[in-house]
Amino acid sequence: MDFQVRMAPDGLPFPAPAGQPLLQSAARAGVEMPSSCRNGTCRACISRLLDGRVSYRIEWPGLLPEEKAEGFILPCVAYPETDLLLSFR
Ligand code: FES
Repeated sequence: MDFQVRMAPDGLPFPAPAGQPLLQSAARAGVEMPSSCRNGTCRACISRLLDGRVSYRIEWPGLLPEEKAEGFILPCVAYPETDLLLSFR
């Protein structure tokens, strides 16, 4: 299943399959996101989830509980569960 991801404030939507990390889906769509480790530790890709829901397959991505609560996500290890609206930082 594909979800639609949009980058605030004015990015075009791109498709994000449920089984693929967001960073990969963005790259396939030609949307540049900063990245480095791609395994959820360096935080180079940190973004803010303004709307929607993601899940992780690793126990604890490199985010503080407060950051998670504020909506920060790590797209290199985050999988979409709904359509999403994101912004960088
Ligand atoms: S690229 Fe390192 S945390 Fe996402």
